[in-house]
Amino acid sequence: MGIVDEDIVRVRQATDIVALITEHTQLRKVGSRWTGLCPFHSEKSPSFSVNQAEGLYYCFGCRVSGDAITFLRELEGLDFVEAVERLAAKSGIALTYTDRAESATRQKRQRLLVRVEEAVEFYHQRLKTSPDASAARSYLRGRGFDTDEVERYRIGWAPDGWDVLCKALRLDGETATATGLGFTNKAGRLQDFFRARVLFPIFDPEGHAVGFGGRIMPGEEGAKYKNSRESDLYHKSRLLYGLNWARQDAVRSGRVVICEGYTDVIGFRRAGVTEAVATCGTSLTEEHLKLLSRYVDKVVLAFDADSAGQAAAERIYAWEKDFDLAVEVVRLPEGSDPDELSRTDPDALAAAVVAAEPMLRFRLERVLGAEVADTPEARARRATTALGVVAEHPDPMVRDPYLLEVADRSRLDPDLLRNQLEELRSTGAARASEAPRRDAGAATGPVSRRRWDGDPGPRPPGGDGGDAGYEDAAPQPDLPPGPGPSPAGKVHPAEMSVLVHLAAQPDGELAALPEELFAHPLARSARVALVSAGSVAQAVSDAEADTWEERLLSRLAVSEPDGTPAEAVHRLVHKTGSQAMENLEAELRQAARDGVDADVRNDLLTEHAWLARRVDQLNEPETAEVSARALVAYLRGDDEEEVRPGVDSGSGE
Ligand code: UTP
Ligand code: MN
Repeated sequence: MGIVDEDIVRVRQATDIVALITEHTQLRKVGSRWTGLCPFHSEKSPSFSVNQAEGLYYCFGCRVSGDAITFLRELEGLDFVEAVERLAAKSGIALTYTDRAESATRQKRQRLLVRVEEAVEFYHQRLKTSPDASAARSYLRGRGFDTDEVERYRIGWAPDGWDVLCKALRLDGETATATGLGFTNKAGRLQDFFRARVLFPIFDPEGHAVGFGGRIMPGEEGAKYKNSRESDLYHKSRLLYGLNWARQDAVRSGRVVICEGYTDVIGFRRAGVTEAVATCGTSLTEEHLKLLSRYVDKVVLAFDADSAGQAAAERIYAWEKDFDLAVEVVRLPEGSDPDELSRTDPDALAAAVVAAEPMLRFRLERVLGAEVADTPEARARRATTALGVVAEHPDPMVRDPYLLEVADRSRLDPDLLRNQLEELRSTGAARASEAPRRDAGAATGPVSRRRWDGDPGPRPPGGDGGDAGYEDAAPQPDLPPGPGPSPAGKVHPAEMSVLVHLAAQPDGELAALPEELFAHPLARSARVALVSAGSVAQAVSDAEADTWEERLLSRLAVSEPDGTPAEAVHRLVHKTGSQAMENLEAELRQAARDGVDADVRNDLLTEHAWLARRVDQLNEPETAEVSARALVAYLRGDDEEEVRPGVDSGSGE
């Protein structure tokens, strides 16, 4: 099951990885690379780097890497085929599948989407023009929807009939059921799913309509909202109304606003808050948060005051941790929702979002802000309630400052409260937040984010690029483990910079460098991989997934070569030559201790003197090249006489 290889290659070639990634994060050209803030982790200075020509990315911070396909898989949680399909659609490439059944499923989905789209249009026209929709039109107008909004959100009207839609679209039973647009009733007749309701079409993040939320007219009997039934197209635990419109702005601002209803999303947009989404007839799930964490690092909850206060705090704290998200809460005036506020006071609505507070602060204010009698008993009761709220938070470093505040505002001794807080936590009042955490990375995503946590290597382009700062780019202990501990520590910067040049031109003259120049086993294997693959992209794709070698190669792909290849080689030869001198010195000291023959020691001294001169000559432009060649030959272990004839001759050239 899959897509034929030729098509995958064509899609890769046709994809501009920079254009793709810019949908999620802004990139700036630096040298021949593009850099920006990493869309996979939150950061303030850019460590994400893209090699446009090779179609590869790498993050120097969190160490994710890959190509356009991996990018979509990891960032948007698509599977391989979905990712290729998305890219193919962008480039207008028709895909051939290796499996007919697969092909058929995909085509069926496409056909169903077309039918839903037809239904959206049918209902929309009905609302705009049909006489039977005049009550719906005045209802919407009365609620402050103007024509423009009706158009933009493609609001519709489902007529009050049994099968108006099914007939108009000539739906057969199977299609009606599969799209959720209709169903076969007890009498065996096809019937419309929505009837006499104002419809809000719901779109997937790409903007395909996949279902509807249908609102009843005021005064009618029945549930206020009826939403499309779960189907192959419509998965309510994953869908967010408005995400298709909010996506880009959310990425840009780094936050998304989650509200409760369709009309609230529209209200937020009316007030200029364009990053609003809502769940569709269900409460917020882990899947929703996980999806959003791929776009933003802050989620702002704009529920009405009561629901926000009651939202399961423990779950939210766990999500903050699991998905590396900050969750904040908007304080809305009592009894108002975003939809209403957008009409009465849009500026206040926008301001409320800006003033959003962390969940714990929000909950605590609700307790501490309550008026109580100024008696020790009343204050103690309030402090106890407040402590219960603080105790829910899993992080002691967050709990303590809030505890101090409770103490202060209740005029009670902090230590007394600390004891009580500990007791609360140990008696299980807050046990939920202590429950073993799900493995966020492996939970439902098709691939886990790939990172490594060892050797930091050279800095991103635009950084100092040199050796300074290399050592202090400390491994980040909070990252999940990569492919095990780094073998043999860090790759030396001089080796790295030669490898970067080699990656840029694997068939150039550096291909002939001997492996003896590279001390680190990873550098040696990367060298072989690059030379034999012929291009860094090929080497990355040949490398075994999730290995140190793969990560090293990915990093090389996005690193900016520093200076000329020859200069990099000279630095490496200098490093290796100096190391060889040190080894000789150690050997000499040992020889002296062991009372070894003077002849032997003399030879060692001669060799040392030769090396010292050659290494020294590396620093002079006129002699650097020739001495580098001689040293390379020496390090490779070429015939001694040829390499450094005679002690006294002094002229090896
Ligand atoms: P609300 O009752 O807050 O409705 O439900 P609302 O968004 O303010 O709608 P208006 O402004 O009265 O038209 C919030 C959300 O809960 C779901 C819907 O998704 C709705 O948007 N809901 C509500 C249902 O699924 N069924 C219901 O019967 C009611
Ligand atoms: Mn409302």
